[in-house]
Order: sequence, then structure tokens, then C-alpha cells
Amino acid sequence: MCLPISIQICYSTDINYICEIKKKKMNNEFAIVAKTLFGLEEILINELEQIGAKEITKSHRAVFYKGNNEILYKSNLLLRTAIRILKPIKSFEAKNEKELYAEIQKINWEDFMTVSNTFAIDGTTSGDIFTHSKYVSLLTKDAIVDKFRDKYNERPSVEIENPDIRINLHIKDTTCNISLDSSGSNLGKRGYKLRQVFAPLSEVLAAGMVLSTGWDGKLNFIDPMCGSGTIPIEAALIAKNIAPGSFRNFAFENWADFDKVLWNKLKTEAKNNITLLKCKIFGFDNDTEAISISKENAVRAGIADDIIFKKQDFLKPETQISESLIIMNPPYGERLMEDDEIIPFYKEIGDTLKLNYNGCDAWILSGNLRAIKFVGLKPSRKIPLFNGPIECRLNKFELYRGSKKG
Ligand SMILES: C[S@@+](CC[C@H](N)C(=O)[O-])C[C@H]1O[C@@H](n2cnc3c(N)ncnc32)[C@H](O)[C@@H]1O
Repeated sequence: MCLPISIQICYSTDINYICEIKKKKMNNEFAIVAKTLFGLEEILINELEQIGAKEITKSHRAVFYKGNNEILYKSNLLLRTAIRILKPIKSFEAKNEKELYAEIQKINWEDFMTVSNTFAIDGTTSGDIFTHSKYVSLLTKDAIVDKFRDKYNERPSVEIENPDIRINLHIKDTTCNISLDSSGSNLGKRGYKLRQVFAPLSEVLAAGMVLSTGWDGKLNFIDPMCGSGTIPIEAALIAKNIAPGSFRNFAFENWADFDKVLWNKLKTEAKNNITLLKCKIFGFDNDTEAISISKENAVRAGIADDIIFKKQDFLKPETQISESLIIMNPPYGERLMEDDEIIPFYKEIGDTLKLNYNGCDAWILSGNLRAIKFVGLKPSRKIPLFNGPIECRLNKFELYRGSKKG
């Protein structure tokens, strides 16, 4: 069954959101918002172009576009750098809690859920009017529940962890945007990483890093400090064109308009598009537990035979490496190392690269912006990224024979 409405929304590019909503039937297309991490917006736009999204507009940690259910499903299944795919349902102004409650009640919630569904509200607020996201989420929940109870004397229940329907509420000053969250849990939770080391990267950030390098999947790939294996696993998924969403379920599968035939077709297409690996991918770490965790995660991702994981100290290389792409995420010196060890450690990383990796490009992600300068090589690119709340740089070092010292 298809929902009777599609929604045309015009977004402003700076703040998140909607300047106009007109309900009208048009080609079953609707506005979609893909949330992403700071610094990955352009990569996400490239991915969206490849899946056929229309009217793509960049925003801050988000990209707005239009598409139909096929594009919405593909967004969840195929995008590597999106963390959440939202389908906006209403935008309005509210100057106080009373107005917010009244506007939420005006929405025809029966289009999206029944009394037997469970639901959850994810609220974010900024500005001086609404300052407590938990409180506005609660108010929104009350407005929805009261509406159902008034009509049916029954109400849908709240379920925080695994709700049928996830509603996203975004308030900036007095502008309120209500969306259905089609993803459910964060898309960075692909489903293969059940065990991890201290300070693992999110799968979305790891994929974003690999895509940022422009790697073609033909050059050999090395992560010399692989931890839980996130970077080499994401690299293998990219190189083999394996859909990042093929290991999990999504919230839109609970929606009233869920098109199972279409969804199965898209999943089959994605499976048929998987290719053979054209290079070697290595994941090294000097920690035995990290290597065993990486191997387990690779098995769950279905690529155990595509990555060579091995315990190896990066600072004591066994062989000279050439013509490879290196991406690494060394410790930042927060818990894994003491501060007075971290500067010499980054110096040693630089020396090891210069001596043993001639002819390679090495990309280093670090949240220690002081220590990364001690690598002692001049970065040819610096990409600002955030690893959770930690401001990082993904620096590219081109390692020439004889080295090009900064
Ligand atoms: C920040 S963690 C990497 C996290 C990883 N990207 C992930 O997603 O799980 C840093 C890793 O570097 C490893 N490491 C530290 N010193 C090393 C060395 N000299 N050689 C190899 N690995 C090392 C640690 O064991 C740790 O697993």
C-alpha cells in the first residue's frame, strides 16, 4: 500500500530545513534528508548521485534530496557515508510548548502508525526557546499518545531500544521539523562489528576515509594499526561493491507503506552487483586480541577470505612495502598511551613510513593535532573530520623514494 501523499519541501541550505511544505501528489517523490558526519557531505553527495537521487543540496552534516521509495530504500541499503535517512512529514513554527503540542496534534498520525505499534522520539534542539531536547521529546510523545487515546481509548506504546516507528524531531529556535526516521539505529551500526577494541572508528567514518582517498580498489591496501578491523573491512566492502546495509534491518520495514517486493528486488540487485577483489587488503595490529576481533568481524561481514589479518608491530616492519595505499588510525594518546610517549610514537610512525613505505600514499587519521605534526612529513592534503566529539585531521603523506621532508 502506498501512502496517499507525497510532500514537496524546499530547504534552505544553511540551517536544517524546510521553508515550505506543500502536500501534493507528484510522481510519488518526496523530500529526503540524509544525515552524515562533519566533513563527509561531499562524499555523500557523490554516493547520492550514483543511486539516482534528485535535487541534491548540501547542508551542514546533512544532504537534502528528492526521491521515491526506491531511492529511500537504496539510501539505507547502499550509502556508506550516511548515518540516518529521514523522511520529513511536517515543518512548522512554534514559539512555546503549547504551540508545539498543538501542531504535533494536527498531524494525522494514523497515516504512519496504529495503536498497536511501538514508537520512539529522537529530539534535538538548539536556540533559546526550546532548550531541553528530552522535554520536547516527551511533549511530542504526549501529543501523539493523547490524540490516539482521545479517538480510540487506546494508545501506541513507547519503546526506546527497538521501536516499530522512530520519529525525529529537530527544533532550531522556533522552527520545528518532524520526520520519520527510515533507518532505525544509526547506519554506522552495520551489524558485523559485534566486538571491538578501545576507541574503534564508526563504520561510516571508516568508509568516508577510504572514499576520501579516491582509492580505486586495485592498489594494495594496508591498515597497519587496524584495531577491530573497521577500516580494512569497509575497504573490502567498497572494493567488492558489497552493500553496507546488507547485514541489518531498517525501520522503514515496519512502515504501513512498506513495499516488500521492491525491497527484495533491490537486495537481490545489490547481491548480483558484488564483484571480485582485485587487490590485497591487509590489517595489522601489534595486539593479539585486536587481530582476533578483526577476524571475527570480517567473518560476520562475509569477507574473511578477502583480508589478511596478522599480528605485526608497525614500528618493526618485516618487509619493505611499495605501491600500496596505507590508511591508519593510530592511538591519540588519551588512554592507550601516556602523553610523553605520544610525540616520540608519532615521530617513529613518520620514520617507519619514510624508511619502509617508499612509493606509497599514507593517510593518517588522528585526533592529536599536536602529535600528528611530529610525523615529520609535509601533508599534501588535510581533511578535517570528527571522530565522535574529537576533532581530527585525515592527513595525506606522499612517500617518495628518498622522502620529501616538510
Ligand atoms: C585507535 S585504535 C584503532 C581503532 C581501529 N581503527 C578500529 O576501528 O577499531 C589504535 C590501534 O593501534 C594499535 N597499535 C598501537 N601501536 C601499534 C604498533 N606499534 N603497531 C601496530 N599496532 C599498534 C593498537 O593496538 C590499537 O588497536
